[in-house]
Amino acid sequence: MAEDRIDQIINKYMNEKGILIQLLLDIQHEFRWIPKEAIKRISERLKIPSSQIFRVASFYTGLSLKPIGRHLIRVCLGTACYVRGGPRILDTVENKLKIKSGETTSDNKFSLETVNCLGCCALGPVIEIDGQYFGKLNSANLEKALSNYN
Ligand code: FES
Repeated sequence: MAEDRIDQIINKYMNEKGILIQLLLDIQHEFRWIPKEAIKRISERLKIPSSQIFRVASFYTGLSLKPIGRHLIRVCLGTACYVRGGPRILDTVENKLKIKSGETTSDNKFSLETVNCLGCCALGPVIEIDGQYFGKLNSANLEKALSNYN
C-alpha cells in the first residue's frame, strides 16, 4: 500500500535534519514521482510546511510532481532536427500516444517531452527512448522504434 511505503521511507529519516531532498529523492525513486499524499504525510510527520516541500520538489529537476511513465520519450526539436522533420516526428508520436509533449499516457506507460538537442545532430531527426537514440527517423522506422516498447 502506498501510504505504508511512504511511512517506511519517512521512518528512515525521522530523527535527522536537512534530509528533505534525500527523502524526496527516495519517494521519487519508489513511485517515479512525488504524489500529493506523500507531501501531506511528510508535512504531518516531519512538521515541515507543505508549501516548502512543494517548493523544493518544483525546484529540483530530478523530482517530478506529475506521474512519469515507465518509458520516457524525448523528441529533439533542435535546429538540425527541426529542419529535417522533427515537428512531424513529434506530431506522429503525439497522435499515436494521444498525449502532448509534457504529458504521460493514462496507463503510465509513456511520458513525452521535447528537447533542444540530443548531441547527435547529424542523425536528425532524432528521438531518445529511455536513453536509447533513434536517428534518421521517418514514419516507418519511428513506428518500429516505438513498437520495441509496447
Ligand atoms: S538538433 Fe537534434 S540532436 Fe542536435
